Amino acid sequence: MLEWVKVSENIGIKEAFIKKVKAGNRHVCLVGFEGKIYAVSAQCPHAGGELAEGWCKDGQIICPVHRYQYDLKTGRGAKGQGDYIDTFPVEVREDGIYVQVKKRWNLF
Ligand code: FES
Repeated sequence: MLEWVKVSENIGIKEAFIKKVKAGNRHVCLVGFEGKIYAVSAQCPHAGGELAEGWCKDGQIICPVHRYQYDLKTGRGAKGQGDYIDTFPVEVREDGIYVQVKKRWNLF
């Protein structure tokens, strides 16, 4: 089951940004790049680098640790990497930015 979670107030998307935000019980990396907002995995699958500390170039997010690159739209790793990051739907609403993630049940 999927749910939309508000992860941020509305922030201008003219300036590029990358920040780690909480979406339900997980962290995601929220990225503003070239007028669009993306939400992707917070951690690099290679060795756990923090993607929010990386940077973007040519539609890719680049991990700061070993500079692996991932497509912001599809999550696909650059040629030869053989890996990928998760991507999540994003909606900019009047009251903030929402990301769609899998709902996790809180049993307690
Ligand atoms: S941890 Fe991200 S490229 Fe190695």
